[in-house]
Amino acid sequence: MKKIVGKRVMLGVVTALAGFAATAHADVVGDAKAGQGKVAMCIGCHGIPDYRTAYPEVYHVPILGGQNAQYIQNALHGYKKGDRHFETMHAIATTLTDQDIADIAAYYASQTATSKNNPEK
Ligand code: HEC
Repeated sequence: MKKIVGKRVMLGVVTALAGFAATAHADVVGDAKAGQGKVAMCIGCHGIPDYRTAYPEVYHVPILGGQNAQYIQNALHGYKKGDRHFETMHAIATTLTDQDIADIAAYYASQTATSKNNPEK
């Protein structure tokens, strides 16, 4: 009986580690298409499609379009865990799953200045 419980615990640990590895590496594959449907709540601050503010420095909101996917993922996980501090971003990041983060990162990373739906401002 004890052995079985031990196995269960081990399995849980392995699963948790696998989840962590997936977060740290590219095992959770980001889907840019899915990500496009998840950035609605980001656009208000990080840019409006087809709109580029002339004075981004007024808002002090980082541009995400074209940013490296791994960088975006790291930033969002950082806000989520509290390693990176910014109230609003923390609140938002905690609502995102690892898959959401991967999708969003893939979406923003796929944007270029000439992309139709470039969220870059
Ligand atoms: C209420 C405004 C607001 C909303 C909504 C918002 N952000 Fe942010 N975000 C900010 C601000 C301001 C910063 C800069 C914070 C800082 O200095 O750490 C930031 C920082 C970031 C960064 C780090 C960028 C970098 O260059 O370091 C990422 C990534 C990010 N946001 C992604 C998102 C995503 C994805 C969403 C939607 C799910 C979102 N944000 C929604 C305001 C917002």
